[in-house]
Amino acid sequence: MAILAANWKMYKTIAEASAWCEVVQRSPWLDRAEVLVFPPLTALSALRRDGLRLGLGAQDVGWAEQGAFTGMVSAAQLRDAGCAYALVAHSERRRYACEDDRMAARKIAALWQAGLTPVYCVGEDASERDAGRGPRRLAQQVDTVLGELRGEMAGRLIIAYEPVWAIGSGSPATPAQACEAAGLIRERIAAACGAAALARIALLYGGSTSPASAAGFMAEPLIDGLLVGSASLDPASFLAMLEVMVHA
Ligand code: 13P
Repeated sequence: MAILAANWKMYKTIAEASAWCEVVQRSPWLDRAEVLVFPPLTALSALRRDGLRLGLGAQDVGWAEQGAFTGMVSAAQLRDAGCAYALVAHSERRRYACEDDRMAARKIAALWQAGLTPVYCVGEDASERDAGRGPRRLAQQVDTVLGELRGEMAGRLIIAYEPVWAIGSGSPATPAQACEAAGLIRERIAAACGAAALARIALLYGGSTSPASAAGFMAEPLIDGLLVGSASLDPASFLAMLEVMVHA
């Protein structure tokens, strides 16, 4: 089943989050796709209390199990708050919180340990792309976490290709570009973990997606879904994307 995920970043109050879910959950298409929502931490409990029927995830996770780590929230605490997913190493975390691939690998291991599914974000930035280093950077990002992957975990890993130059720019990558990156990511997984693991890992595209561009990405067989930022904030545009997805 295709995956449609909403990353709200640092937007929405608790009331706004609840109102969004109420609208989205009226959709007749909910059982035709896997719909995930990544609200700010402050809204997690309220959404769960409201009887959320969507997959719930956090936008980040601490790498440690527990301890004196002010400001961190562990994977087990996220599970306790109702989360089944967490984003790892989103490019905004890489940029503003100096997260690197090694830290991403630790976070992924922590999520697996607690029974959650990581959504690992990878993607080259504009300077890497312009210097022709995009494929090498992607391979590096993927290979670092594949070291953590055991066969049985493959069904609990989602990788999101989010080229940094496309995020928030209003100009998504072309479906062909996303497909090329997806092909490379799949090759690395197959080489390191084998075809069986590859078949169980879902691959998303993210970066300035919209109702207008969704169909093009969903027509690509190597892309299993979308991770949506700005266009997920308005429930109407998110639902338009869901409708495109279930008819793709
Ligand atoms: P935009 O869709 O706003 O470009 O954001 C994409 C993103 O960062 C999703 O994680």
